[in-house]
Amino acid sequence: MQAWVIGNWKQNPATNNDVNKLLDSLLAVNDTASTSTAQCQLMVAPSCVHLATVSARLQGTSMLCAAQNISAHSDSTGAYTGDCSAQQVADAGATWTILGHSERRQYHRESNDTLISKLCHALTQNLGAVLCVGETQEQYDAQQTFAVLDEQLAVVKDLLTQPVLEGDSSLSLAERLIIAYEPVWAIGTGKVPTVAEVTATHAYIKQTLASFDTSLPEFAVLYGGSVNADNADSFAGSPMINGALVGGAALKSESFMAIAAAFNHAKA
Ligand code: 13P
Repeated sequence: MQAWVIGNWKQNPATNNDVNKLLDSLLAVNDTASTSTAQCQLMVAPSCVHLATVSARLQGTSMLCAAQNISAHSDSTGAYTGDCSAQQVADAGATWTILGHSERRQYHRESNDTLISKLCHALTQNLGAVLCVGETQEQYDAQQTFAVLDEQLAVVKDLLTQPVLEGDSSLSLAERLIIAYEPVWAIGTGKVPTVAEVTATHAYIKQTLASFDTSLPEFAVLYGGSVNADNADSFAGSPMINGALVGGAALKSESFMAIAAAFNHAKA
């Protein structure tokens, strides 16, 4: 299975000028490293306001551009102040969107109902979706990780019954849906679960998705949470870890490309 290394830029960088500087260095490193990242699909997710700039500059490169979120209310237009729709982000050049990041679940109270709508809107507008799941520190300490994942992955089970997937082959869903396991307690903290823990959790996620429909092919499951140039090798070494969703280390081209190189090397 192809590996994915995705940079979630969150609410960064501050200015369009800084976005262009980050792209300059990313594209310079990517040019010299493109053969060494052949097994690894790279993607970056800038803030909505920078999507058009970033996607225009990534045209003709091997790097994809994703939104960090889309509107739950409509896949196209409407009276929804402050929202950007799947159609609008696709028009700005995004081909994917991140959905259900823990920061959106926490600060915007995103529920499974909201996420089903967003997933349907993404697929309607031909966007791929990176669905984030993961437990809090409290839930981890209480050994509730798998129960939390059951609850969060139920959106995929519901998605399978939605009209947007009618006539769709399950193969194409697996090409357009990626799961990112991001334990909330590992995000931006420098704390990481062991590779054995992540491996077991990813096996559980894959098994849970397969239980929804036995005809579904295997989905890519990425790990996210304090991935950096030093620990990427160890995660990349597990066959259950199909890539990384990277926050802080994606804001520097050297660390982002080092993570990509680690996955490329391990998956070659
Ligand atoms: P960090 O890599 O900064 O821990 O962030 C992970 C993340 O939230 C990516 O979506």
